[in-house]
Amino acid sequence: MCGIVGYIGKRDSQGILLGGLKKLEYRGYDSAGVAIHTKTGLELRKSKGRISELETRLEAQPLSGFAGIGHTRWATHGKPSDANSHPHTDNEMNISVVHNGIIENHLQLKAELEQLGYRFVSETDTEVISHLIAHHYKGDLPEAVRKAVSHLRGAYAIAVLSAHEPDKLIAVRWASPLIIGVGEGENFIGSDIPAILEHTRSVYILNDGEMAVLTRDNVELMTLEGNFIAKQLLRIEWDFVMAEKGGYDTFMLKEIHEQPRAYRDTMRGRLLEGTGISFPGTSLSARQIRGVKHIHIVACGTAYHAALIGKQVIERLTRIPVEVDLASEYRYRMPVIGANTLVIAVSQSGETADTLAAMREAKLAGARVLAITNVIGSSVAREADDILFTHAGPEIAVASTKAYSSQLIAFYMLGLFMARSLNTIDRAALTEMIAMLERLPYQVERLLEDKESIRRIAERISGREHLFFIGRGLDYSLAMEASLKLKEISYIHSEAYAAGELKHGSLALIEEGTPVIALATQELLLEKTASNIKEVKARGAYVIALTLEGNEELEKTADQVIYVPRTYSLFTPSVAVVPLQLLAYYAASIRGHDVDKPRNLAKSVTVE
Ligand code: F6R
Repeated sequence: MCGIVGYIGKRDSQGILLGGLKKLEYRGYDSAGVAIHTKTGLELRKSKGRISELETRLEAQPLSGFAGIGHTRWATHGKPSDANSHPHTDNEMNISVVHNGIIENHLQLKAELEQLGYRFVSETDTEVISHLIAHHYKGDLPEAVRKAVSHLRGAYAIAVLSAHEPDKLIAVRWASPLIIGVGEGENFIGSDIPAILEHTRSVYILNDGEMAVLTRDNVELMTLEGNFIAKQLLRIEWDFVMAEKGGYDTFMLKEIHEQPRAYRDTMRGRLLEGTGISFPGTSLSARQIRGVKHIHIVACGTAYHAALIGKQVIERLTRIPVEVDLASEYRYRMPVIGANTLVIAVSQSGETADTLAAMREAKLAGARVLAITNVIGSSVAREADDILFTHAGPEIAVASTKAYSSQLIAFYMLGLFMARSLNTIDRAALTEMIAMLERLPYQVERLLEDKESIRRIAERISGREHLFFIGRGLDYSLAMEASLKLKEISYIHSEAYAAGELKHGSLALIEEGTPVIALATQELLLEKTASNIKEVKARGAYVIALTLEGNEELEKTADQVIYVPRTYSLFTPSVAVVPLQLLAYYAASIRGHDVDKPRNLAKSVTVE
């Protein structure tokens, strides 16, 4: 996600802020900016694009001052542009704010502030914060910040610098990480350890609902109610490379662990008080949905596997027929596209050449295109008629994990939104499903607590050269993703098979000890999959079953059983994928591969 750095002390802040921002560059961003308190007050330099562009701007017009805040932005509201880059200010240029996270109620706050006469210059959700602080400022900056954040709903880590009290920096955390670095006669704010590691290893980690008031020589920690708190100063022993990965060995493992947060961010502001789904900021309306007679989904690779699940979700919830195509095939197969065909393009990067070409083909034929993408301002986002952003944050590892599972969350919400628009689901069922969606991040957190058992299973398969994944229905689509994940990073050859199809040929490949990973998470298909497990077992397969908690029956046939928590059947892939990602991850690391950069692959495939 975005990066924050803040400095107050005895040194000139420009170089320190730029240095900190550069250390956050690896996380991905689309623009950068700084605000520094100079002799003339608050001054800003912001730039769309690389930090080097901001640096060029600062070389031409340097800023000198002992307190400042900086930001690398990964757009969530409003395209990447100079105006949308942080820091944001109030109209009088007295307050500057950098923010990570999403303010769910920003549209409502913006309307209220506009009524009061505040003028907005960006499309961001963040700008409401600077105006709110200005509105509440009555001579006490910490008090104004406290009052301002009491109006915010959503996730925020913010750093505030004000011309009113330039000897202070304020930091607040709610559901988005923030740390305070403590130095000698200088203090720091960082969204991540790498931002400040060059200067100090002593840090306070803020918890949700905590605020820090930094001066050059002091850090005061308090709750949002204004009560002072004492906290242990921690010493960071990580080296820089470890710090970049948040203490994990690889970006992939870090991103697997980021899934609960990615799920929350993708759902944020879209689930309405347990009674509905809305997509603020997108033009997709219930009326349009009612006009849709066919849906085509186009995507590549992992995004295609998410689309296969999306098809089943939409068809089951709405009964609208859905076709899924590999984008590279779609454009050449002369698809039948009509004015009432909705084409959904799914792409993490939003730059995949085949997906772009497929959606262009669809648009030419008169279809409306809805994009599900993770990158605001990407080509897919720019060319689509409607966009549903996943908010998984930048994905650095080549193998997609959190982007895939956030695409599933997007499909669940889209399916429910469509079902409600078409009246194919009643309010009570919707409320129940929304409650189950909200539980998913907690269920994934619980799964991530037991990685050791998956690592042991990975040891068992890591020496093999071939294996099978089998499953039925949603499990078959999930098996395809699990198989791709294993192949791309461990280089073990694997095939995903519809469990009922194996006996039509490929069963011939099963021999003594062949690992078969059987996904059996769909209650209605459990008995059928159990018979398929017996089929392979009888041919000597070593069976690892993945099923729902409580289905202990499978222990009688399978050699190992992985359990995942229960949720609504359509939502199960978003929990079941986690042990499968871990299995691929551990198999690859045991084989000694560079998990983040598998051979022959690129993160974004911009050629046909
Ligand atoms: C595999 C993987 C790729 C991508 C595919 C499409 O882990 O990441 O298969 O899913 O190249 O990329 P996007 O989603 O950026 O269009």
